[in-house]
Amino acid sequence: RGGMGGLAAQRGILFGATLTQGQVVESAEMVRIATEEMAMLVPGFEFKWPGLRPGPWEFDFTGADAMLTFAEARQQAVRGHALVWHGALPGWFGDGPADAMGMRTLLRHHITTVAGRYAGRIHSWDVVNEPVEPWDNRPDGLRDSPFLRRMGLDYIDLAFRWAAEADPTARLALNEYGVEMATPEQDARRTALLKLLEGMLRRGVPVHALGIQAHLSAAAWRDFDPAVLRGFIRRVAALGLECYVTELDVTDRGLPPEVAVRDAAVAHTYRTFLDAALAEPSVTLVALWGISDRFTWMNDSRFARREDGLPTRPHPFDPAFQPKPAWGAIGDALRGA
Ligand code: G3I
Repeated sequence: RGGMGGLAAQRGILFGATLTQGQVVESAEMVRIATEEMAMLVPGFEFKWPGLRPGPWEFDFTGADAMLTFAEARQQAVRGHALVWHGALPGWFGDGPADAMGMRTLLRHHITTVAGRYAGRIHSWDVVNEPVEPWDNRPDGLRDSPFLRRMGLDYIDLAFRWAAEADPTARLALNEYGVEMATPEQDARRTALLKLLEGMLRRGVPVHALGIQAHLSAAAWRDFDPAVLRGFIRRVAALGLECYVTELDVTDRGLPPEVAVRDAAVAHTYRTFLDAALAEPSVTLVALWGISDRFTWMNDSRFARREDGLPTRPHPFDPAFQPKPAWGAIGDALRGA
């Protein structure tokens, strides 16, 4: 394999990016870059509940099947994202079944059906996405999600056990954001996450990796301390877990309007983050959460859109699919330059 994925493989890193069926259909350029550069793909929509579940007892695998076929035709590994996530639930879900048994039945059926259908074809699943939220003021720092409310603390352990039963070959990851920076808030998130992982491992739950989403901000980069990130990764590795960088992108919110200034700051953030993360041998995967600024979730998101209304430039290729300084920075980091 050539391209960035081939370069990364020389360092034992599985390198790829998120891609959706919509992007494949709409853009030959996205298909070209994804094909030439990526050794792995993460379907950005097709494995989420809204992409799979038209109704409480219905599944529509069209999108997921198409993305698997696309990746397998290119000998690319596939990440499944995500079996359990409060952040993308179909309209019919509402608050979920009113009682514990109802939610447990729905969740078990979902996980068993989806992970079972693709058993043997998925490199790794984000089994539970974003389980911690210290702002919810629970002593354990867990997020007060519909799953926790209905099923209690067991929902995380059970989701991993059901996924392992359905597909014993897939690596199973817990995926979280806001654990990269040296701030008190993110320190609390790291603490809650470590406590959760230690408990899961103590209970014999089959978890193999921690996914660090790495949605980064160039304007906030003074809060980045490589020692803090590496120390956290090492504590996770001491539990016997790999670390995946699962959703890497760099918002240019808060930076001046000049494109050259923004692109340089974004490239610097990609470089210094990857220099730190890749210095840790337990980091074995890097997935970009966007290939080109032409297709970025950030302009759809009130959190990430630029205040000045200018289109964001968070990804390594520009809206005309030309490589930006960030792409060179990623290559330099992977070369260990
Ligand atoms: O709803 C349409 C659906 O009808 C259509 O068939 C489909 C075709 O692609 O598109 C759907 O539109 C949007 C979809 O992205 C397109 O991929 C959804 O309305 C929109 O809500 C969805 O937003 C995604 C969001 O997660 C919620 O799922 C973003 O693109 C995606 O970047 C974002 O990614 C999340 C990670 O999963 C978890 N970590 C945070 C990250 C950023 O929020």
